[in-house]
Amino acid sequence: MTAFPLILLLLSLFLLNHSLSTAANIHKKGHFRPKLKSHLSKTNITTFFEVTKPIQVPRTKPCSYLLLQHDFGHTYELPPVLANYTPPSDCQCQNFAKIVLQWEAKSNGTQFDRIFGVWLGGVELLRSCTAEPTATGIVWTVKKDITRYYSLLMSNQTLAVYLGNIVTNVYTGVYHVILTVHFYPAEVSTGINGNILTTVNKSVSSVGWVKSSYGKITTNSTQRFDFSNFMVLREGGNLQIVNQTISFNDSVHAKLPSSSVLSIKSTKRFPLYLYTDEVEEGNATFLLVTNLTLGYNEKKRVKAGDFGLFDSSLKNLRNGQGVLLVVNNSVVAGIGSTQEVYRYDDSTFCYFRNVSSSNYTILYDKEGKSCRK
Ligand SMILES: *[C@@H]1O[C@H](CO)[C@@H](O)[C@H](O)[C@H]1NC(C)=O
Ligand SMILES: *[C@@H]1O[C@H](CO)[C@@H](O)[C@H](O)[C@H]1NC(C)=O
Ligand SMILES: *[C@@H]1O[C@H](CO)[C@@H](O)[C@H](O)[C@H]1NC(C)=O
Ligand SMILES: *[C@@H]1O[C@H](CO)[C@@H](O)[C@H](O)[C@H]1NC(C)=O
Ligand SMILES: *[C@@H]1O[C@H](CO)[C@@H](O)[C@H](O)[C@H]1NC(C)=O
Ligand SMILES: *[C@@H]1O[C@H](CO)[C@@H](O)[C@H](O)[C@H]1NC(C)=O
Ligand SMILES: *[C@@H]1O[C@H](CO)[C@@H](O)[C@H](O)[C@H]1NC(C)=O
Ligand SMILES: *[C@@H]1O[C@H](CO)[C@@H](O)[C@H](O)[C@H]1NC(C)=O
Ligand SMILES: *[C@@H]1O[C@H](CO)[C@@H](O)[C@H](O)[C@H]1NC(C)=O
Ligand SMILES: *[C@@H]1O[C@H](CO)[C@@H](O)[C@H](O)[C@H]1NC(C)=O
Ligand SMILES: *[C@@H]1O[C@H](CO)[C@@H](O)[C@H](O)[C@H]1NC(C)=O
Ligand SMILES: *[C@@H]1O[C@H](CO)[C@@H](O)[C@H](O)[C@H]1NC(C)=O
Repeated sequence: MTAFPLILLLLSLFLLNHSLSTAANIHKKGHFRPKLKSHLSKTNITTFFEVTKPIQVPRTKPCSYLLLQHDFGHTYELPPVLANYTPPSDCQCQNFAKIVLQWEAKSNGTQFDRIFGVWLGGVELLRSCTAEPTATGIVWTVKKDITRYYSLLMSNQTLAVYLGNIVTNVYTGVYHVILTVHFYPAEVSTGINGNILTTVNKSVSSVGWVKSSYGKITTNSTQRFDFSNFMVLREGGNLQIVNQTISFNDSVHAKLPSSSVLSIKSTKRFPLYLYTDEVEEGNATFLLVTNLTLGYNEKKRVKAGDFGLFDSSLKNLRNGQGVLLVVNNSVVAGIGSTQEVYRYDDSTFCYFRNVSSSNYTILYDKEGKSCRK
């Protein structure tokens, strides 16, 4: 058995120095370091690279972790270097669109190219061959898309790295390796953002008559309906604002042969305001913040010929605020508060109530039964 590894692969490598000159370097198996007496700079480190298609990553900031930093000196007959792997727990997002393994290594001196491998939980993530160092040093980086090992990467594992190297008086190059993993959160801009305004209005008017025992009664009825909905979506739909108002007015006139008039007129307004926002807190945690305002307003006027007028009004406004703490998609805590004002008023009866609660406790509750006139 030879003390030197057999070089299994014939690789065509390209070397580049700062003046961008390149030299082809074909390795053959054997005991001698291939001659590479080059015109390369004696003081500047050489970057080795291979031309390949870049990995397409989302435009998000990756959560990057150092997996292992190790200097591979005399490692030829030793077991692989082991390290404990734990999944990213302190990353703001836990939904990753891309996971990239990065191997970065440096070496100087004289050395063979060496085969190496990276395993996670026994699964091979990367298998490659080192670049050969020069006296002034060589540096290279390998990136690999390891998104397909997603489930493996989401649990504790043992990381193993083997690089069988030999350091002697002649073969002096130690491989200094830094192994990193980059978790790229999915882009959130896939949701909808924008402002949407919807308005609808409708007006219906009808006139008719009936002949009754009272004589001919002419009826005039009008209905007007107005709907306006303004919706704001931000943060890919995480923030939503709805500001909506419905207005509905109707009136009915009936003219009797005695020329007295019966009429009912009602104006109604229903405002609605809803604000919801998901505030990311990191660690799979977010706050769901909600504000809600709901109103019911109605004014009514009934005219009954000689019997006079009957006016009434109802105003009801309800506000609510809620904050839910959501961890790992479950609600773990929450607090809510409400404020409500109710006011009914007609010429004979009034009722007023002003009540508020927070966290299941009544803060105040005021009631009034007399008209403030
Ligand atoms: C090393 O690189 C620097 C920057 O590219 C350059 O200015 C310098 O001349 C180089 N040195 C040699 C000895 O080539
Ligand atoms: C190469 O590395 C050795 C230590 O491993 C260091 O003493 C030496 O200065 C380095 N040579 C160059 C040219 O960087
Ligand atoms: C994973 O490893 C970390 C760090 O050693 C430990 O705190 C955690 O409990 C482990 N998780 C599981 C599911 O074993
Ligand atoms: C009702 O809708 C029509 C058509 O969209 C518009 O021209 C008109 O101004 C609206 N009227 C009111 C009162 O909003
Ligand atoms: C019907 O009522 C509306 C408003 O109440 C009025 O403008 C209209 O002139 C009336 N039409 C008839 C035919 O009485
Ligand atoms: C209903 O009547 C109120 C008060 O007169 C008015 O402000 C509102 O614009 C009307 N709405 C419709 C849909 O006619
Ligand atoms: C809702 O829209 C109406 C009309 O555009 C505006 O007057 C009101 O201030 C808005 N309400 C809120 C809470 O933004
Ligand atoms: C996430 O949780 C870990 C452990 O519970 C904690 O050390 C870290 O500070 C948290 N990160 C954030 C952003 O809250
Ligand atoms: C939500 O309600 C709270 C409490 O009334 C208030 O402080 C906050 O400004 C409201 N936020 C929005 C966006 O309406
Ligand atoms: C979230 O769920 C994962 C998997 O179910 C679990 O490992 C982790 O500890 C949970 N995180 C928190 C903060 O509860
Ligand atoms: C309801 O009561 C609260 C607390 O006393 C007060 O601040 C608020 O103005 C009242 N609202 C009305 C409509 O009277
Ligand atoms: C809400 O009420 C619960 C039970 O009374 C209490 O433990 C908690 O601290 C309260 N939360 C807030 C924010 O006041």
